[in-house]
Amino acid sequence: MDIAVDSYGETRATELALFKASIEETIEWLSLFGADASGGVTRLLYDASWQEAQSTLAQRMLQLGLEVTFDEVGNLHGILKGSHSHTGAIVTGSHIDTVVHGGKFDGTYGIAAGMIAIQHLWKQYGRPKRDLHIISFCEEEGSRFPLAYWGSGYITGRYSLAQVPEAHDLMGISLLEAMTAAGFGAGTNSPKLVPEGIHAFIELHIEQGAVLEQEKQAIGLVQGIVGQKRLTFEVGGIANHAGTTPMTMRSDALAGVAEMIQEVEHRAKAYGPPLVATVGSLEIKPNLTNVIAGHVTFTLDARHANSSELAVFCEALITGFDEIALKRNLALSYKEWMDAAAVMLDSGLTQQVEVICQRNKLPYRQMFSGAGHDAQLMQSICPSTMIFVPSRAGISHSSEEYTSSEELAVGILVLKDLLYELAYHEH
Ligand code: GLV
Ligand code: MN
Ligand code: MN
Repeated sequence: MDIAVDSYGETRATELALFKASIEETIEWLSLFGADASGGVTRLLYDASWQEAQSTLAQRMLQLGLEVTFDEVGNLHGILKGSHSHTGAIVTGSHIDTVVHGGKFDGTYGIAAGMIAIQHLWKQYGRPKRDLHIISFCEEEGSRFPLAYWGSGYITGRYSLAQVPEAHDLMGISLLEAMTAAGFGAGTNSPKLVPEGIHAFIELHIEQGAVLEQEKQAIGLVQGIVGQKRLTFEVGGIANHAGTTPMTMRSDALAGVAEMIQEVEHRAKAYGPPLVATVGSLEIKPNLTNVIAGHVTFTLDARHANSSELAVFCEALITGFDEIALKRNLALSYKEWMDAAAVMLDSGLTQQVEVICQRNKLPYRQMFSGAGHDAQLMQSICPSTMIFVPSRAGISHSSEEYTSSEELAVGILVLKDLLYELAYHEH
């Protein structure tokens, strides 16, 4: 991509080359922690690879000259103190936890890029006015515990240590047990970051969709983040002999769930964009060739840019499930374990990023995020924004996730300019 080759010319080109080399090195280095046989990364909250990655990140932050602390739940904080600390911090950050067999870039890019941007700002301009603060948040994905945004939820006051949410991983280990085993928990670490101390939050992230690539845009200005509901359904039938039970005498939980999944797809398509709905996980009991399924658990992930439309869709869908269950003589129950409202991000910050793109002659577009991010929680306590870079073929949550180092470097350039304006200029 040919960017900023006139007035910014050589300086920017040199800077981009440095960012490119650093981001390549940092992403590859971080992807060693939790590297799995799929060629991707599995780093789940509080597990050994996550702990190792957070601690070595802390070491790197120390080497950069940042003040480094872990808060009580394990969010990692690196701070470059400003000369006017009392005016509030400019915070950037993302997460290093992944989905199972996830990619190298989701979340990790925002952390690696933030460190590189801060390092260059420090080298080029010295001490900022406001504190520059980077956070590696805990459990953005909700992939070990059904509790996405645990770390940013803790910082923003949605969750507290006085009432650690009742959440268990697939092995039955509770969030509290896992957190304690990893050395975190009430009273173990430094004081909590106070929301009043934050002036703005910026998260740089891969798009995880194909829009920027298809439209040949370098940067996505994120206006808002979709609302999201996640539910788990239990369907009970009668486990019985696959050979001796006539087709008319069955309560087949799996056949019922198959119909429900069809219903999800049918209704979501009929509802139309931006509604999306997915059944991504299924657990069948007893899961044997010659036994009719007696019990099936499945999940639903539904998203829409408008929270009330999302609620209407889900309600109607569940009514549809009830009808299927009744018709097939199945028991149906469900639990909604995530209900994240759609969030509009700060338009002032978006405009600031837009001007930076124009100044650097970067093609950009405004867009909504279909994926959830810590920024949606941070927006509840301070003006927040997100900056996207393209994802190859829009693939994410997969070992195939990829963004070229050139594209990653351009994102760092934009982040650096924004951090500069916010932390060095304004106060
Ligand atoms: C988080 O990555 C999500 O599933 O939106
Ligand atoms: Mn992410
Ligand atoms: Mn993700």
